[in-house]
Amino acid sequence: MGKHSATLCGVLLAALCLASSVAGAQIIFQGFNWESWKKQGGWYNSLMSQVDAIASTGATHVWLPPPSHSVSEQGYLPGRLYDLNASRYGTEAQLKSLIAAFHGKHIQCLADVVINHRCADKQDSRGVYCVFEGGTRDGRLDWSPDMICSDDTQYSNGRGNRDTGVGYPPAPDIDHLNPRVQRELSDWLGWLKSDLGFDGWRLDFAKGYSAAVTKAYVGNASPDFVVAEIWNSNNEDGSGRKELVDWVKAVGGPATAFDFPTKGVLQAAVQGQLSSLRDGNGKAPGMVGLMPEKAVTFIDNHDTGSTQDTWPFPSDKVMQGYAYILTHPGIPCILTVCFLMFLNSNPQQFYDHVFDWNLKQQITALSQVRSRNGIHPGSKLEILKAENDIYIAKIDGKVITKLGPRMDLGNLVPSGFRVVTSGNSYAVWEKSGGPVRDAAPH
Ligand SMILES: *[C@@H]1O[C@H](CO)[C@@H](O)[C@H](O)[C@H]1NC(C)=O
Repeated sequence: MGKHSATLCGVLLAALCLASSVAGAQIIFQGFNWESWKKQGGWYNSLMSQVDAIASTGATHVWLPPPSHSVSEQGYLPGRLYDLNASRYGTEAQLKSLIAAFHGKHIQCLADVVINHRCADKQDSRGVYCVFEGGTRDGRLDWSPDMICSDDTQYSNGRGNRDTGVGYPPAPDIDHLNPRVQRELSDWLGWLKSDLGFDGWRLDFAKGYSAAVTKAYVGNASPDFVVAEIWNSNNEDGSGRKELVDWVKAVGGPATAFDFPTKGVLQAAVQGQLSSLRDGNGKAPGMVGLMPEKAVTFIDNHDTGSTQDTWPFPSDKVMQGYAYILTHPGIPCILTVCFLMFLNSNPQQFYDHVFDWNLKQQITALSQVRSRNGIHPGSKLEILKAENDIYIAKIDGKVITKLGPRMDLGNLVPSGFRVVTSGNSYAVWEKSGGPVRDAAPH
């Protein structure tokens, strides 16, 4: 190739990159489930061999498991925060290589940040486990019980501030109003960025501390992306969606929240009440209907699905869920382990969507519809019909998505649209003009 054509290519490439960053397509992959720590040879090593596969699906972000030493294998009862070598997922060096490999594919990495609570290494004079070790030799994060919330009666010595959020009974609730706590956790979050390469955070149990506290950490450590787990019982029927919006507004900057309301309403809707996918104002019923740019939509995560299975999406309707989140506004998050052949040798323990039901191709086809049409978090949603056996919506005037068993669509799908992917009780159309592919409507 000649010099000039190389230059031209460079210009075209730059234009393409610009176009995709303007469009702002974002797809998050949850890169682990509840069993991932059991993977022989280490989870980080195993994910390393899947980086290309994940990139080829159009993922822009991958959510990795909590990185630090933890009392529980999965990482959600962390202790020595700086000690990444004691993680059950692999070593600090392996994690660094994995993050670098994702960056090589332009995928950002989110750390699962568990700071509401923390497990202590030592007992105090009362015999209570409330003396912490940070995992460094210079005393950072070596805390006393003074750093525990005074209303955490199990672990506190009563000298901390009161908790700014909901208590977490299994472990000491950290006093985030303590200046040393704020400073040292901000430093640790900064270290995850500067030394490990993490780009952003998934905040575990974010209802355990106030939005103001979160705003302070975001301001101090400047992550590019933040998504909070705020899972309340009133999220589950959609009635709590305004609280999520209020939280996001209070934190500001890069903050987003998992759209538990969309999951709750959607998984009820696909069981014969699709009319609930339109709210009183003609909008989507989840957080995505109020503030789509800041709503991270999902079907299941390591708590609701996987082997914990506390609140799973109906297993035979998972693809209807993905057809919704992957073609709609919001920032969709896919349980990545779907794509990975892994786990131990016991077939009873294979739980993830795509492995069990071979949904990989269907999910990838939907991701491709999203990227190909530039569907982004703030895309325009026009709900054409929402009755109990049919939901049909147009996105950005270019894509039409149907859920539900009804086959007779009347004239809801205008001429000039053709089916690009479909499955049991869902179909997706694109406006003609793009690449031709064959798929039969269902
Ligand atoms: C983890 O292991 C690496 C490589 O052996 C080492 O450089 C690092 O200091 C270790 N971290 C801790 C907290 O022990």
